[in-house]
Amino acid sequence: MTAGEASIRFGQHPPARRTIVHLSDTHLLDGNVPLGGRYDTEANLLRTLDAVERLGVRPDAIVFTGDLTDLGEPDAYRRLRAAVEPVAARLGAPLVWVAGNHDERTALRRDLLDLEPTEEPVTGVWDLGGLRLIALDSSVPGWHHGDVDAGQREWLRGVLATPAPLGTLVALHHPPLPSHLPLFDILELREQDLLAEVLAGTDVRGVLAGHLHYSTSGTFAGIPVSVAAATCYTMNLQRPAAEVNGMDAGQSFHLVHVYDHTITHSVVPVVEAPTGDYFSAEWVERMAALSPEERLEAFSRKPSR
Ligand SMILES: [Fe+2]
Ligand SMILES: [Fe+2]
Repeated sequence: MTAGEASIRFGQHPPARRTIVHLSDTHLLDGNVPLGGRYDTEANLLRTLDAVERLGVRPDAIVFTGDLTDLGEPDAYRRLRAAVEPVAARLGAPLVWVAGNHDERTALRRDLLDLEPTEEPVTGVWDLGGLRLIALDSSVPGWHHGDVDAGQREWLRGVLATPAPLGTLVALHHPPLPSHLPLFDILELREQDLLAEVLAGTDVRGVLAGHLHYSTSGTFAGIPVSVAAATCYTMNLQRPAAEVNGMDAGQSFHLVHVYDHTITHSVVPVVEAPTGDYFSAEWVERMAALSPEERLEAFSRKPSR
């Protein structure tokens, strides 16, 4: 733990109870061939993982919300775990893998999770020190649109019947949100009203998703939904909606802080840029040595006019 984290409090909010790193859409390929002839998905993932390690935090979980591979190839899943598992081990964080429309359940199960290679939905429940994380599988074998099938909905209803001490986060690939891009309407999560009926009134405090390759947020059944962009390529939203395409820029991930009464999702850009050096652990220590009034004088007071 570094200065400025949970041990130090300058404001009115107690520190976050849990911290989660939320990444999405790695889209790795066999032999690391360039995705679409353009994108080095493995190099972009490694750059992102370097950025995760530079945070200096020990997250309670690292969550990947789907499209882990582009074509569901066994070698792509092996490359993914070779890149990510050492990072998770160094950070002491459990890994949560969510299936996306570009994944194949059999290979994902066999080559990433060491499970029997069946077509069963890839779901799971994690207890992150009282915070419950539930992974759903919104992939539909053979299709790119999404659906949480009736079997999963009933299973979810049963899990949610018992609340968790710090509440629940649900992770799935296809976000239960509209997109302003027409292409994503075709590939949307179907039967959203049936999922809303299962989630409404439960202890679910947030939904984590991916699929869009741009960061966005909204609400679903009154629950905040946060969509992480992609590690591989992102959508260039600086265009009219019908003309939005991918670009090899703007990659990011989310740093999720779970507080007692709210959850924040901070977009962390994966970029090399000249950065100032005014703030530091030493600066935080100097502030911590002051009284609250002295801190306001030292850092909040504007120069007299
Ligand atoms: Fe994707
Ligand atoms: Fe997707």
